[in-house]
Amino acid sequence: MLVADARQLPLADATVDLVVTSPPYWRKRDYGVTGQLGQEDTPAGYTAALMDCLTEWRRVLTPTGSVMLNVGDGYWKRALAGIPGRIEAAAADAGWLLRNRIVWTKTRGNPDPAKDRLAPRYEYVLHLTPRRYHYDLTGYAEQYGRGANPGDVWAIDPERGLHSHLAPFPVELARRAVILACPRTVCTQCGHVAQRITAPSGELDPARPQARRAMQLATEAGLTEAHLAAIRATGISDAGKALHVQTGTGRNSAEVQRLAAEAKAVLGGYFREFTYGPKRTLGWTDCGHGQTRAGRVLDPFSGSGTTGLAAAELGRGYIGADLDPRCHAIAASRAKQPALAA
Ligand SMILES: C[S@@+](CC[C@H](N)C(=O)[O-])C[C@H]1O[C@@H](n2cnc3c(N)ncnc32)[C@H](O)[C@@H]1O
Repeated sequence: MLVADARQLPLADATVDLVVTSPPYWRKRDYGVTGQLGQEDTPAGYTAALMDCLTEWRRVLTPTGSVMLNVGDGYWKRALAGIPGRIEAAAADAGWLLRNRIVWTKTRGNPDPAKDRLAPRYEYVLHLTPRRYHYDLTGYAEQYGRGANPGDVWAIDPERGLHSHLAPFPVELARRAVILACPRTVCTQCGHVAQRITAPSGELDPARPQARRAMQLATEAGLTEAHLAAIRATGISDAGKALHVQTGTGRNSAEVQRLAAEAKAVLGGYFREFTYGPKRTLGWTDCGHGQTRAGRVLDPFSGSGTTGLAAAELGRGYIGADLDPRCHAIAASRAKQPALAA
């Protein structure tokens, strides 16, 4: 772990593939270290400090890198301060693209003494990127969505009793971020990021009523595997348009067009169910240089090292930085406990 300020990291340019982090929230707790973030007088001051962080992280990100930033709100003069919105607006002004505002929901949280409002039970994970970025939606959907896009709400309860002074986020939160946006491998010679090579599996998700109905119609009408392959070959939801679609080898053959049109006549609107079934992974792209490193995650507010646990579990490299030198021992002891690392 590096003992460093998140705004001034002793790292070379373009060396980190993903930042996953949870900064101190504004005026929530005092970490007792000089130069700590979160003690600014106003929300505007806090937002400016976080923008200094983003500027520094942009420097260390590789060209396909991005940031998953866990932020919560707070109260100021009896009103919600609107911290996440302020960060979003400032980041947009500084040229960042907000790709997702993931809502992290919890069924329980810290006791709240307020008698005239509800206790907060959600936070955000902002996915920010300066430009194009690595993203493995297929791999994520395999694990969390039965192959379909599982959406931008993460229901994850806090882990109990862990280094509560450091306010760690759950390993599961970091795990999701790493699966989504940290490459498995990167070529050390040309920077090529391994991309999943996929093909439609032809399977439908039986949990979806529409998919069940589509399968029923196909069975009743005696549609063959050739019909289903013809639907997939068109790759679009409208068999009429399929007549104009090109395959990799040229115009779709008359036979494929005929079968797709036949299937469309039987399936009607359920035709599309067979065009967006889950994908199957065939392999990974390879630039051929044969010199790769694991994707690398940085947590510049590393605390007890939660992000490091997720990175290790998923075979990624990890760099943790924190202003507080005591975090080193906490993170090291946590990494040695297999139950927590799992
Ligand atoms: C919310 S905690 C991070 C918890 C972490 N996600 C974990 O799993 O334990 C915030 C951390 O930021 C550190 N910190 C505060 N100001 C900092 C700064 N300017 N640069 C780097 N670290 C800082 C604190 O020491 C604390 O460990």
